[in-house]
Amino acid sequence: MYTFPKDFLWGVATAAQQIEGAAAEDGRGPSIWDTFSAIPDKIAGNDTPALACDFYHRYPEHLALAKELGFNAFRFSFSWPRILPEGTGAVNQKGLDFYKRMIDEMLRLGLTPNATLYHWDLPQALDDRGGFLTRDIAGWFGDYAEVLFKEFGDVIPLWSTFNEPIATYVGYGHGWFAPGRTGGERDGRTANHHLLLAHGEAVQRFRQSGATGQIGIVVDVWHHHPARPDCPEDVALAERENEKAYRSYLHPLFKGGYSPALTQWMEDNHYLPPILEGDFEKIRQPLDFFGLNCYNRVVDCADPSVNVRQKTEHAGGNFLDNGTEYYPQAIYDALHILKEQYGVTIPIYITENGTHAPDERIVENGVEVIHDPVRIRYFQGFLEWLSKAMAEGVDVRGYFAWTLLDNFEWTAGYGTRFGMATAPVGGGDILLKDSAYWWQEFLKNKKI
Ligand code: NOJ
Repeated sequence: MYTFPKDFLWGVATAAQQIEGAAAEDGRGPSIWDTFSAIPDKIAGNDTPALACDFYHRYPEHLALAKELGFNAFRFSFSWPRILPEGTGAVNQKGLDFYKRMIDEMLRLGLTPNATLYHWDLPQALDDRGGFLTRDIAGWFGDYAEVLFKEFGDVIPLWSTFNEPIATYVGYGHGWFAPGRTGGERDGRTANHHLLLAHGEAVQRFRQSGATGQIGIVVDVWHHHPARPDCPEDVALAERENEKAYRSYLHPLFKGGYSPALTQWMEDNHYLPPILEGDFEKIRQPLDFFGLNCYNRVVDCADPSVNVRQKTEHAGGNFLDNGTEYYPQAIYDALHILKEQYGVTIPIYITENGTHAPDERIVENGVEVIHDPVRIRYFQGFLEWLSKAMAEGVDVRGYFAWTLLDNFEWTAGYGTRFGMATAPVGGGDILLKDSAYWWQEFLKNKKI
């Protein structure tokens, strides 16, 4: 049995594009996800984020629910195109006012705001000017960040520059995400490099702004394991995938520059992004905390005829009913990777953890209920492994569950549901799932 520290932050995590809706209201400009989702067949069911959870209007109800369940923090992101409809230039006062109202309400309820500056919703106007493929993005992002540091620098204690930078690599290199560009690996690496520069720029502006809070970045660590640990091809494949994914951020952030292995691979394949003198110094800014998103691990097999799932099961892994592997140790492994391989000693927040699940919505004794035992098992397992790492001395200060309400799950649309509660798209009555009640119970004494 482990009791989490008294001052630990317990929150739910959200993102503007996934919950706000009100896409064309009060002067908001279009984002790359608005544009991308309007292209037929890019999103499951051709869903769009236009309405989402209507958080823009219903935030008092959503925040009150988080509070009622026992959470003491709330992670949200600012929508860049709501603040600066053109991406640069004129500030949309109505957009700023919305966040003022919303943050005030959070503070009134005693929910600690944890803000992200960029959760994938680039203003379309900036993508039209090259987006992350141009170095200009660093200055544009810095200017946008500065608007928010000036406005909210005294009330928000936790700021993250970017959420999961890999989404930008995917969106520019491979086109599965907005803006749907398919420039290949070199463009993906270039977008990544510019994103890291923008991160460095924003941290510098934060320090100059006099803001009183702390700043960090959110990276997702999905560690790749070889399906056959004694097979050199599988080991090499898993290594390369780790280099291409989370290590391509952690190395520049904490060690400086891209790792020798990634650099070699990029050079051999002509994928090296344009790196100028001073770039790596700019990227490697001292951070106040690190945000870890953790969902799972990945198992790689070099032989496509091998059934990886069977192999993994054989090796001790198992799968949830939703088809994804249940591997709660992923969180423990990721925390140790941060500590041992990257020397991370700054406080860590688990900024996202959760799963989609095959919810069973039925009427029992005349009352509608949603059973989601898979989600409960998932949360419980991850919290157990988190507590193990903390008992061993890893400095984790908070945990944010993904997520409060079912929402716009990017290319998977509304059909893939991560919420502990649900409501119709565009808003309506909220129905709590069993997992919400599980959280409410857990948060009474925070013991696992
Ligand atoms: C990570 C992303 O940050 C979030 O936007 C997404 O909805 C969850 N993972 C679930 O896929």
